[in-house]
Amino acid sequence: MSYILRNYGFFRYFCNRFSDIFGKRTELSTIYYQKMLDINTIEKLDKIATPFYYYDMDLFRRTVDTASELAQQHSIMVHYAVKANVERRLLEYISSKGFGADCVSGNEVLHAHECGFPAGKIVYAGVGKSDKEIYNALKLGIEAFNCESLQEIYVINEMAHVHGLKANVSVRINPDIDAHTHKYVTTGLYENKFGISQHEFDKLIDILKKSEHINFIGLHFHIGSQITRVDEVFALECRRVNEIVAYFERNGLTVSNINLGGGLGVDYDDPDENPIADFGTWFRTISENIVRRDDQKVHVEPGRSLVAQCGTLMSRVLFVKSGETKNFLIMDAGMNDLIRPALYGAYHKIENLSASQRTFYPTHQAYDIVGPVCESSDVWGAGRLLPLSVRGDLMAIRSTGAYGQVMASRYNMKDLAPSVFSDSLEDAAEAVDYFTLSSRA
Ligand SMILES: Cc1ncc(COP(=O)(O)O)c(C=O)c1O
Repeated sequence: MSYILRNYGFFRYFCNRFSDIFGKRTELSTIYYQKMLDINTIEKLDKIATPFYYYDMDLFRRTVDTASELAQQHSIMVHYAVKANVERRLLEYISSKGFGADCVSGNEVLHAHECGFPAGKIVYAGVGKSDKEIYNALKLGIEAFNCESLQEIYVINEMAHVHGLKANVSVRINPDIDAHTHKYVTTGLYENKFGISQHEFDKLIDILKKSEHINFIGLHFHIGSQITRVDEVFALECRRVNEIVAYFERNGLTVSNINLGGGLGVDYDDPDENPIADFGTWFRTISENIVRRDDQKVHVEPGRSLVAQCGTLMSRVLFVKSGETKNFLIMDAGMNDLIRPALYGAYHKIENLSASQRTFYPTHQAYDIVGPVCESSDVWGAGRLLPLSVRGDLMAIRSTGAYGQVMASRYNMKDLAPSVFSDSLEDAAEAVDYFTLSSRA
């Protein structure tokens, strides 16, 4: 009996045999086959130590290539927002496509540069740049500091002066636009800390003209993330940007670069139906609504839309527990691996990959799917309907390529979940069976 209770294999063997004997592939069963992976790949993934971040490199490249082609058609320059995912392999591919990098810390600037982004294609935003970060970026000769306060412009001007350098500066403007997204990822309203708002424009223009050690190159905007009302919200942003650009130019400053930020949303509900974000609508909306001269460059800074859908957090069911009022699936991945559900109440689709290999599902159940961390907010999803799930099942937490691994922590002294790439599964660490002390392969 103790063998049965402790062992992953028994439950899954039982489920698989049950399914072999009684099951046949029915329409119902195919509904629960998740579409992202074939059965051979699932079998390989099942042998890898969990939790881990799985990157579908084919989807990733197709996403970047799509964005690249469409951007060229609309003469829009793309800077990848490095904060979304700093994985070296992803950055190397993005930089190889000629994209620039949008960074928000000194270390992101240095990392982007190491991953192939030329200094002249790196922009650096952020409300709180330290002196050390400013110095390092100045020395590197980045494309632009996206300055977020008047005082920051003074400091950069002074630092450039002292070191005999000249700094390229764009100014981040807070346009006071509602992006109609979650309040924690809204950034372009006056109540948010980002950018410089209208009441300081005249002072700002005066400072820019007087600062001899900076080279003013343009204006920067970013109003929020996971924007799904794409045409409506970005058209509004463009109209406001047109007014602000015109104001600066009327007051004697040439705005060569117009940077509209990121924010394009992805489909968290149905990542298989919409694996690639709607770059076409985004770029078309910008082209149709932004007023620009031939000598003005338009930039965007997508993060999430380039990397979210190619990433999946893979986890294993540790225990199934029947509570007083509900069933819990307790997974080995927790909020330390992916904090978005706990932080924003974010939804991620969750699939039982092991059950998808069974041809017959005895029943379906509603589960509260939770992590192992000692916090009540460590919940992946409440009341999720899944095929009967058992200890050891491999679970996929979908659309986790953006703002996932980058926000992971070692809270509760958990290990960090490593990256596993679809084109080099053989490099991944094998799962160990701690009863036999052998590989689970
Ligand atoms: C300045 C800036 N640019 C770009 C982005 C990327 O946004 P997203 O990942 O929604 O495309 C962010 C994200 O918050 C940002 O702060």
